[in-house]
Amino acid sequence: MQKKLLEWYEEYGRHSLPWRNTSDIYHIYLSEIMLQQTQVNRVQEEYYPQFLAKFPTLKSLAEAPLDEVLASWSGLGYYSRARNLHATAKLVSEQLPSELKELVKLPGIGRYTASAICSFGHKQNVPVVDTNIARVIKRVFALLEPQEKQIWEKAEILLNEQAPREHNLALMDLGSMICVPKNPNCNECPLSFICAGKNEPELYTQVKKKEYEAMDLFYGLLVKENQIALKMSDGPMYKNMLELPSVEPIEENLMGVFKHSYTKYRLSVHLYELQEFSDNVEWYELDKIENAPISSLTKKALKFIK
Ligand code: ADE
Repeated sequence: MQKKLLEWYEEYGRHSLPWRNTSDIYHIYLSEIMLQQTQVNRVQEEYYPQFLAKFPTLKSLAEAPLDEVLASWSGLGYYSRARNLHATAKLVSEQLPSELKELVKLPGIGRYTASAICSFGHKQNVPVVDTNIARVIKRVFALLEPQEKQIWEKAEILLNEQAPREHNLALMDLGSMICVPKNPNCNECPLSFICAGKNEPELYTQVKKKEYEAMDLFYGLLVKENQIALKMSDGPMYKNMLELPSVEPIEENLMGVFKHSYTKYRLSVHLYELQEFSDNVEWYELDKIENAPISSLTKKALKFIK
């Protein structure tokens, strides 16, 4: 099974991904954090190279102010990833630890990320389980609703000690290219000969229906000359990001409403014209707004107003 898997990987694997062609542990760590909730293409083409151009080393990241880090994360969403990245850089300063049990103590590094760093970065003999690998394992062993612990145990059993890194990458690619959630391509799968779930592959991927939550947000627009009033958010979603000040809605000042999706929220964003604002605000030059730590939501609001 291990041999067939590696042969398949050799021929079809995604070998050119930039984070698979570096031995820089910080670059590998960054890619894993970005890839957690963002598609490979967007990370590869946009965010990964831009972020590394700005913060090429862990030390440069540690020394940067948080708002610059968040500005580079602008548009990627799940901003706690960037806050944790920065916090971790500050804690370790020069170099990440190379042991799994030390890595998981750091902010934003869970079992998956720690294993990925140890496997892809240090070539250690450790299993890796992400959602793609978990699906492959559930099918190969025909596990119905297993505990996470059980999946990790199976990953350990499968692990190829001669080539643990390639083995894990191969399982990941198999899960994302062949052993996909719907209509998996079992005919092309190098593991079908041992797969206990191949006759009913979709039995093992009953996905929980996503639950969305509707929410209304009310923001005020206050512009003076070429400057706009923004406030530092202290809410959970956009903490430490700059956003338009929140207001109580006064319908006669309504400028418009637009829809925005963010994580589990389906937002209706209401924008109001303001004459003044009593709380502290930060004045930001409108033509420098691209460098500010603002979310896609705020960008959309500014575009809407324009
Ligand atoms: N290669 C290494 N880690 C990866 C990930 N999380 N997603 C896609 N390719 C990867």
